[in-house]
Amino acid sequence: MADVKIENLQKYYGSVQALKGIDLQIGDGEFVVFVGPSGCGKSTLLRSIAGLEDISSGEISIGGRVVNDLRPRDRDIAMVFQNYALYPFLSVYDNIAFGLRARKVAEAEIRKRVDGAASMLGITALLDRLPRQLSGGQRQRVAIGRAIVRQAQLFLFDEPLSNLDAKLRDEMRGEIKRLHKEISTTMIYVTHDQVEAMTLADRIVLLRDGRIEQQGAPLDLFERPRTGFVAGFLGSPSINLLRARLVSRGLEQVVVLETGVQLELPAGRRISSTAAGSAVLLGLRPQHLALAGPALLPPGVERVPSKAEIVQPTGTRTYVTARIGDTEVTAELGAHDLPEVNEPLEFAVDMNRCVLIDPSTDQVL
Ligand SMILES: Nc1ncnc2c1ncn2[C@@H]1O[C@H](COP(=O)(O)OP(=O)(O)OP(=O)(O)O)[C@@H](O)[C@H]1O
Ligand SMILES: [Mg+2]
Repeated sequence: MADVKIENLQKYYGSVQALKGIDLQIGDGEFVVFVGPSGCGKSTLLRSIAGLEDISSGEISIGGRVVNDLRPRDRDIAMVFQNYALYPFLSVYDNIAFGLRARKVAEAEIRKRVDGAASMLGITALLDRLPRQLSGGQRQRVAIGRAIVRQAQLFLFDEPLSNLDAKLRDEMRGEIKRLHKEISTTMIYVTHDQVEAMTLADRIVLLRDGRIEQQGAPLDLFERPRTGFVAGFLGSPSINLLRARLVSRGLEQVVVLETGVQLELPAGRRISSTAAGSAVLLGLRPQHLALAGPALLPPGVERVPSKAEIVQPTGTRTYVTARIGDTEVTAELGAHDLPEVNEPLEFAVDMNRCVLIDPSTDQVL
């Protein structure tokens, strides 16, 4: 087990700067997920920790030891990649044992560790098979088994599940979470899938263009994004963004949509810094739109006229694509909320949960 400390890490590939000063501390036993769009530097950061990339400047410590000049094999880490890179002509057992044999671990000890990992991963019955005789999920388990038997102090995963179909991915996600509970080794996991990030992480580190945009517990990032980028990256379907103006009316503040609809900001949500009339983006998550009935709405919930264009029931929820003025929005409604297509409707919008963004700086107000 080990903590990880990264100070002012920079990485250039020729003239391309992939990492622009990363400062990060990861606690012993923590499960941290690096997430962000393609090309933001996730793999580069992970590979730098592993020692597979030479860093341009900065310092990386693992378990209190500066590893800048240590070779990958001396850093006491185990890595699982997207392509599992199993040896095709070796059995599952020999694949898992391979790294231990290379380190001249005694055969009796190897057997003990392979059997232990195989039973933890539910692949004991597969130990004599060749990789080509396995399903994708089973191969993934073998790759993880190979990492477990190393008993490394740090686990690194780079998009390990992206080759699997959706159902298997959900299943393996659960397995990885269980594995972390069982062995409680520090884990760093790279993905561009925000659902994977939300469900696995103790802490999400959201990267953007070589920098940390925001980090925190999953729900913290989801509910309190500091920028429009973070608000837009997390959540599926994505947050709806409506162009609007923020206007003061006496002591009250009102968000005025382009359609002219006025939405009062609840007392707790008022903004102190903004000049009256300034342009804002009103961020509303799909689950904070509901169908408004005739009854009085709770405090902070406002009516917004709209029109449904596409209605998609899934059995558990109904996703509605609708229009508010010229803006397309998505609403996540109850399973039996099935509005008529092309008929006017009214959304009940929960302004207590809205996010207001300054469009010129992308900062959340
Ligand atoms: N070997 C390389 N030579 C030159 N540029 C590179 C190299 N590897 C990565 N880059 C660049 O560094 C930046 C970060 O790449 P990186 O692979 O870390 O992104 P990523 O966040 O892992 O993306 P993805 O989700 O697509 O895997 C990108 O702009 C990429 O083009
Ligand atoms: Mg990558």
